[in-house]
Amino acid sequence: MTKREKLSTESYKGVRDFYPEDQFLQRYLFEHMERVCELFGYEEYSASILEHSELYRSKTSEEIVNEQTYTFTDRGNREVTLRPEMTPTLARMIAARSRDIPLPARWYTIANVFRYERPQRGRLREHWQLNADLVGAEGVEADAEIIAVAHGVMRSLGAEERDFEIRVSDRRILDSIYHSVGIAKEYAADITRLLDRRAKIDDFEQKLTDMIAHEEKAVKLIEELERVTSSAYLEELRVTLERMGVHNMIVDTSITRGFDYYTGMIFEVYDMHEDNRRSLFGGGRYDNLLGLFGGESIPAVGFGMGDVTARDFLEAHNLLPEYAPATELMLCIVDKESTAHAIQLAQALRREDVTVAINFSGKRIGDQIRQADKMKVPFVIAVGEKERVEGRYAIKNLATSAEMTLPADRIAEHLFSSLG
Ligand code: HAM
Repeated sequence: MTKREKLSTESYKGVRDFYPEDQFLQRYLFEHMERVCELFGYEEYSASILEHSELYRSKTSEEIVNEQTYTFTDRGNREVTLRPEMTPTLARMIAARSRDIPLPARWYTIANVFRYERPQRGRLREHWQLNADLVGAEGVEADAEIIAVAHGVMRSLGAEERDFEIRVSDRRILDSIYHSVGIAKEYAADITRLLDRRAKIDDFEQKLTDMIAHEEKAVKLIEELERVTSSAYLEELRVTLERMGVHNMIVDTSITRGFDYYTGMIFEVYDMHEDNRRSLFGGGRYDNLLGLFGGESIPAVGFGMGDVTARDFLEAHNLLPEYAPATELMLCIVDKESTAHAIQLAQALRREDVTVAINFSGKRIGDQIRQADKMKVPFVIAVGEKERVEGRYAIKNLATSAEMTLPADRIAEHLFSSLG
């Protein structure tokens, strides 16, 4: 090799780098998610991204297990999977300590999850997901609460109710339709997954017929799915939500959700913007999952909200926050002799809780100030001989160009009152 090969600057396919502006938005999203969960009494938990592959084998949808996980064998010959979702981990954690954890438990986490999918708008190979789950409670109040948390997150991000729709259905409706049509239990999960992808596939009816291997039943199933438009339970849920101030829930029996573990209420939050009509996120009730760990069965309900679709929603609705760095003040250095003084001033200000960066570039003062402006740092102070000698500093507000000259011990107070 004569010439050294250059390393690529591209990230791995389907994952993202978060530059400061991206991370700013990420933090904005996360802070709103956390705040709303905590307003509803949810406690934060976390876990490793690594799980035994076995966890996913029988509990989540086959599609996810076989086609979409990142799975590898570790050096000790164990099969390991990067979690494709949080629900099995949550179920495992609660089941492991079900006698000690006071139920109902309200838990939330914002976790990165990995799925080997074809990257496209709204779908990547790594994304972050808010998961809020209510474990150990059944009934309409619990289902309504979970939907109200989802609604609360949307509202706190600035969405109006008309901007999104909460489409709700119930797996029990599907089960009773399968029963009435005479579809054997072993086909149910496959059919439900096929229904979940209905809008995305062209030859849905043919696929359904092939799957059931019975044309009349396929026709009858489609008829029944169209005929059943709600249930007494879903109407009660709607009334409960109305009382909580949630007015944009609609019943939509075409919602199915992909995972096998759902047993009751299921929902999808849908973007109503004409340029972004799509499902944003969803969840539902899964009363049999925790029982798979051998202990007693514990009812649960929750949802997962992804950051990718959330960003697209904010963008479509013009709700993105404007970037502002955490740095409040940049100290610019006029001459080399002032460097030590600037460093001491910065340390004193940090002790007073001011976020300060120092420009060591040695460039002309005008260039240093322009750089601070480009970085959107709101205030600058130029430290030179005069400032060193007099102990007074001109604090410049870059947005308004206003200047205020103060001694070191009054700078913090001035910045805080200007920043509000
Ligand atoms: P899920 O619908 O597979 O459900 O994922 C939840 C949300 O995560 C999606 O609606 C979407 O916002 C986001 N998401 C999923 N896959 C991707 C992807 N490849 N790229 C970007 N975003 C994605 C679950 O995972 C359930 N475990 C949720 C749950 C919690 N159910 C009950 N509790």
